[in-house]
This record gives sequence, structure tokens and C-alpha cells, in this order.
Amino acid sequence: MPIVAPSLLSANFLHLQADCELLNKSEADWYHLDVMDGNFVPNISFGPMLIQFFRKATSKTCDVHLMIEKPERYLTAFKEAGADIITVHAEACIHLHRTIQQIKELGVKAGVALNPHTPVSSLAPVIKEIDLVCLMSVNPGFGGQQFIAATLPKITELKKLITEHNATAVIEIDGGVTLENAPAIIEAGADVLVAGNTVFKSKDPLATIASLKRIGINK
Ligand code: DX5
Ligand code: ZN
Repeated sequence: MPIVAPSLLSANFLHLQADCELLNKSEADWYHLDVMDGNFVPNISFGPMLIQFFRKATSKTCDVHLMIEKPERYLTAFKEAGADIITVHAEACIHLHRTIQQIKELGVKAGVALNPHTPVSSLAPVIKEIDLVCLMSVNPGFGGQQFIAATLPKITELKKLITEHNATAVIEIDGGVTLENAPAIIEAGADVLVAGNTVFKSKDPLATIASLKRIGINK
């Protein structure tokens, strides 16, 4: 079964408590929390303060996706806010290996995200060090964009890289995931489905989460 990680970026920020309660009673596994700084990406979202509130609202895994420049400046703040997983962008880290070590020293799981144009092979030197690889299947910055099909061969390539290195990183796909394209994403080798609009803009978010959870079963 895939790990399902709804992105709270698509939640209703005037009804966050209701949206958290909905996720808590759903089959969702993780909260996916998108932090944007207006520099690394053209949008600004939220920071550690809001994550503290999410932490209090749930016992589910808080999966924090940092779309910020020089994320090493804020690792402690996000750990203290309650992150279970901190994912940094390879493109935002000059010393990626060091940043990964810093995340792990905080006792938090370490993830690395790749933009659509960044090759999977760039992760070979660090793949054994990380717990999660987030393949961006849209250009980061906004929810509700269309899935970039070229992500599918990247998933297959990443799966191969992980197996060859005897590594344990899980593969997370972020951006434009729908009930229609999720089967192909899972088939290619993904472990974690992030879904923003597909969950929160659906008529029945609980049922949509349940359907995402069942992708790949009975094949
Ligand atoms: C995009 C974010 C995603 C986004 C996903 O920059 O990293 O997590 O919120 O939203 P959807 O599923 O609507 O593309
Ligand atoms: Zn994200």
C-alpha cells in the first residue's frame, strides 16, 4: 500500500482545525507540509510557527518539505516545531552531504527533493545517507499544477539506483498526483503519494484518500 501524504497547502486556512480532524480520521499516513520562502520558489507559504500547530493537531508523521534557500539555517527551528522528516532541495544546498548529516544529527529523518530538471544520478553519492527522495513532478511553488510525465522514467531510474546501492530511501512523488495517474506512479516504483488538490478539492476527501491508499492493490 502506498503511503498517502495529503499536502496541507491545499487546505482551507480558515478551517485548518476541521481539515486536520478530517485527515486524522482518514487513512492518510502523513501530513505533507510545504514551506516556501519566495526566493527558492516564487511563492510564500508558512514556516515553523504553523508547523507547531499542525504538530499539536496530529500524531501522524509531519513530513516537512523545505522549498527555501540555504535550508541549513532553519533545520533546528523545524525540528523544534515538530518535524519528523525534513526534506531539503538538492538545488538549494551547496553542501548537500553536510546538510543531510545535520538533519540526522537532530534525530529527524532526512529527505532530498529534486526539481523536474535535476537528474536522479546526482544523488548517487548520498543515496545511502538519506531516508527519502522527493521527486518533484511539477515545478515547485504551487498546488494544483499538472503532472510532468517525464517524472515516470525518473522513478524507475531512482528505484534502480536505490536497489543497486542497497539503500533504504523511500520514493515520494510530489505534484499533480491524481487518482488517474497514481497507478502508473506506483507501478513505476513510488512509495509515497503527495496529494494536495486531489484530496482537498474533491467532493469526498475521505473517500479520495481511501482510494489513493488502495492504488496498486489486487494487481
Ligand atoms: C508544490 C508542493 C506540493 C503541492 C502539491 O510546490 O511541493 O506539495 O502542494 O499539490 P498538488 O497535489 O495539488 O499538485
Ligand atoms: Zn511538497
